[in-house]
Amino acid sequence: MAKPVVFVIGASGNIGFSTTQALSTKYADKLEIRAGVRDPDKADKLKALPGVTVVKATQGDKEQLVKTFAGVSALYIVAPGTENRAELAIKTAEAAKEAGVKHLLVLSVPTYEVTSTVFGKQFTEIETAVSKLGVPYTFIRLPLFVENYFGFKETIQKMSTIILPVDPTKPYTPVVVADAGKAGAAILADPSKHVNKGYCVVSNRHTHGDVAKVFSEVLGKEVTITTNKYEEAKQLLMSIGIPEWQADGGMELYKLIDSGSTATNQQNLSSFKDITGEEPTSLKDWVTGVAPAFK
Ligand SMILES: NC(=O)c1ccc[n+]([C@@H]2O[C@H](COP(=O)([O-])OP(=O)(O)OC[C@H]3O[C@@H](n4cnc5c(N)ncnc54)[C@H](OP(=O)(O)O)[C@@H]3O)[C@@H](O)[C@H]2O)c1
Repeated sequence: MAKPVVFVIGASGNIGFSTTQALSTKYADKLEIRAGVRDPDKADKLKALPGVTVVKATQGDKEQLVKTFAGVSALYIVAPGTENRAELAIKTAEAAKEAGVKHLLVLSVPTYEVTSTVFGKQFTEIETAVSKLGVPYTFIRLPLFVENYFGFKETIQKMSTIILPVDPTKPYTPVVVADAGKAGAAILADPSKHVNKGYCVVSNRHTHGDVAKVFSEVLGKEVTITTNKYEEAKQLLMSIGIPEWQADGGMELYKLIDSGSTATNQQNLSSFKDITGEEPTSLKDWVTGVAPAFK
């Protein structure tokens, strides 16, 4: 019997790649895996994954995607970090419906209900449209990535400090990109268990104070926290090329952490284990793995 075809669109990004990698590692014998990217010539890392076929696919290009998705059983829509991502994701989902895709896995965020925020507004639009299509769906709501800590690299190396405006004593629940990829792959491998559900997939709960403490232990030097003002932090992000709408969105997330919101501090930490059967990555293990880059 032919293997079911699973398709990841936006496969060259952090989440798309980690999901495709997890599919390749764990499910290549059971699934036909397709990785959709805008430019296959730039997808050597994906092409090197066993059992993965790279396919040209542009999010939002509805006419073309209807043809590209022919025969696909489950599709993961990894909307990009662009201001028009709701439009891109919705058009992609509509194309999938027209092509007869049987299940949609759609990236969202835990703050989708906080519609007063930039990201909340975009993702509530995506979730509302997808849930009305009549195609079985799963929302995988991903919080802040632990990999954002690479943004602390230079100040940890040069000044042994982490500079940010958020209260370092407030807990929040981020996700490690590899964990997000494993959870997405497990859902794609058996979507029938996850029909019309939404999961906030988090790796663990910690504070930014904990981040400084763990870097201190692992690097063998004291790493402190330096608190700056929200406006300064926003300008710093914009100075490294982050567009203003996205910098505003990031500051809104930090302010939700400050306020103790359950959108940024999830009460349920078990979704990752429930979906994958594995333990999520601890902060200590993640920092230990990346420590050479911070020395
Ligand atoms: N950073 C965080 O803490 C965080 C937390 C939660 C959620 N998110 C969101 O999660 C999503 C996935 O994150 P990520 O880092 O994996 O994504 P990403 O790198 O921003 O984008 C995913 C992929 O989308 C495609 N893409 C980019 N711009 C596009 C455009 N204008 N039109 C069509 N396709 C485009 C690219 O793939 P191809 O070139 O291969 O087509 C890209 O690799 C993003 O929306 C991100 O903002 C981020």
